[in-house]
Amino acid sequence: MTALSSPNLADSSVLITGATGDIGEAIVTRAIADKAFVIACGRNESKLEQLSSQFEGQIHTLCYDVTDEKAISNAFREVQKGVTAKRWPALYGLVNSAGIMAEAVLPMTSGETLKQQMAVNFFAPYQHMQLASRLMSRQKAGSIVNIVSQVGELGSSGMSAYAASKAALTGATKSLAKELAPKGIRVNAVAPGFIDTALTSHYDDPAKQKVYGRIELRRGGTAKEVADAVLYLLSSHASYTTGHVLPVDGLFCP
Ligand SMILES: NC(=O)c1ccc[n+]([C@@H]2O[C@H](COP(=O)([O-])OP(=O)(O)OC[C@H]3O[C@@H](n4cnc5c(N)ncnc54)[C@H](OP(=O)(O)O)[C@@H]3O)[C@@H](O)[C@H]2O)c1
Repeated sequence: MTALSSPNLADSSVLITGATGDIGEAIVTRAIADKAFVIACGRNESKLEQLSSQFEGQIHTLCYDVTDEKAISNAFREVQKGVTAKRWPALYGLVNSAGIMAEAVLPMTSGETLKQQMAVNFFAPYQHMQLASRLMSRQKAGSIVNIVSQVGELGSSGMSAYAASKAALTGATKSLAKELAPKGIRVNAVAPGFIDTALTSHYDDPAKQKVYGRIELRRGGTAKEVADAVLYLLSSHASYTTGHVLPVDGLFCP
């Protein structure tokens, strides 16, 4: 069964950035449950080692900083070497989950903060899409899922740099869906609302309750709920869906 006709991801490799984070790890777990071979990327070496031993034989880990352009190119070279050596299947999926979130009002947002937000949340996913689409176009099949944010879709006071970086990625997602469709590559995004992860762990209980009051389902989401949406878009269950942003937000009303 080919990757394209398979509703699960057997015979497919999926590269996942931010695999050491809460949402990334949930995506790794779901992708492996769906029979994908996972190339898990992150900076946290001990977390990568833990994933390696937990999913032995179904995973290859790569340790690099996504702001290092050369390291990204090397990572894709290693992915292709593994394919050629038949250590894992051809690259079919890419999930850009690595991200950072700056919270600061306009006068307090330094140029450095703005550049860092753009570097991690936009330039890095963009370069990953450039290199991944080159490999995917060889077999004329691929699926890319970018983790954006409802903050980028709806705006949020005190988060303009983060929102802008995620909105940029949403724009690229919609444009690349059109550009890469003739090559058999779908490009979609998942836009989480408030998810209980390390990224939001600085919210104390009263702050969380305030946010939950603006969510129709009256709770935060889980990393697994985000991963379930990502795996749907990655798989051929979504074979006629491209250029979409799927909110996973319990209906967030800012
Ligand atoms: N949690 C939410 O409420 C929420 C809402 C909307 C969107 N999101 C998005 O969801 C994605 C995952 O977030 P999360 O909640 O799972 O946060 P998290 O647990 O803090 O994970 C963030 C991940 O990004 C990686 N990362 C950050 N900077 C990096 C860099 N320079 N190079 C390589 N990797 C880097 C981290 O890797 P290391 O730990 O190895 O450094 C980690 O794996 C992000 O894109 C975030 O913006 C989250």
